[in-house]
Amino acid sequence: MPLVSTQTILKLAEEKNFALPAFNVPIPEFILWVLEEGEEMRAPLIIQVAPVEYEALDIRMFYGTLLFLSQKFSIPFSLHLDHAHHLEDILLAIQNGFSSVMIDGSRLPLEENIRLTNKVIEIAHPVEVLVEGELGRVGGLEGDESWEEKSKEEDFFTSPQEAQEFTGKAPVDMLAVAVGTRHGLYKGRTPQLQFERIKEIRAKTSLPLVIHGGSGTPREQLRKAAQLGVRKINFSTALRVQYLSAFQEYLANHPEELMVGKILQGIEGKVKEAIRECIIASCAEGKV
Ligand code: 13P
Ligand code: ZN
Repeated sequence: MPLVSTQTILKLAEEKNFALPAFNVPIPEFILWVLEEGEEMRAPLIIQVAPVEYEALDIRMFYGTLLFLSQKFSIPFSLHLDHAHHLEDILLAIQNGFSSVMIDGSRLPLEENIRLTNKVIEIAHPVEVLVEGELGRVGGLEGDESWEEKSKEEDFFTSPQEAQEFTGKAPVDMLAVAVGTRHGLYKGRTPQLQFERIKEIRAKTSLPLVIHGGSGTPREQLRKAAQLGVRKINFSTALRVQYLSAFQEYLANHPEELMVGKILQGIEGKVKEAIRECIIASCAEGKV
């Protein structure tokens, strides 16, 4: 089964009440390490990439790479487009084998978010591609911090009423919600997930919910969110931080080393520790 549609594994996550860990893969070796750790832990998962990440790569390589790796792995995994802001990116992803896409209209006023999200649904649903919409604003490193400096985090939490209205007018398949996480590092503070808000949004929409900014959120909080109907948790910073610090440490200890492959082998274990933690935090371990 390996490379499957997001719809297939989302159904499994609903049936078995867990969240799919969704890993951003800005560099190809992350794909391999994520799949190897997923296989080890028998965890279904999502490989995802955002337009800002594949600027340095070629979006066409992802589907081909995953198709090739399908021969090597037995866990089911899917390919998702993360944080798209433009229809061109959505089209490119759909043409290149992505089975789900996120349209991030969260910076827009509600009506504009609804309009943009519906445009994506019109393109994606006829070809059986799932759509993740976002309502509320998950703070942190999204390229534009200016809004965050001016506002309190609470101002951007997803309102359950608005979520009901949004999903009634724009029938997305998954809804990303702002419930206490942020993208990137927390810089000394511990995030506090809003469990009542998660419950209310789930009750009002009956949709699979998505948490962005999974890195740095305590494991038990994410596990509880998964029990409450969060079906996808995005992780990026946790892997990158581990990769960069392990890389620096390796070079400090082996200043003469020029074989990049050897360096990667030396740091693989550290990155896999982070991947393992994300899988446990999503309750995805042992689900296949
Ligand atoms: P983190 O980098 O905080 O894990 O967030 C990942 C994310 O939400 C990707 O969309
Ligand atoms: Zn995100």
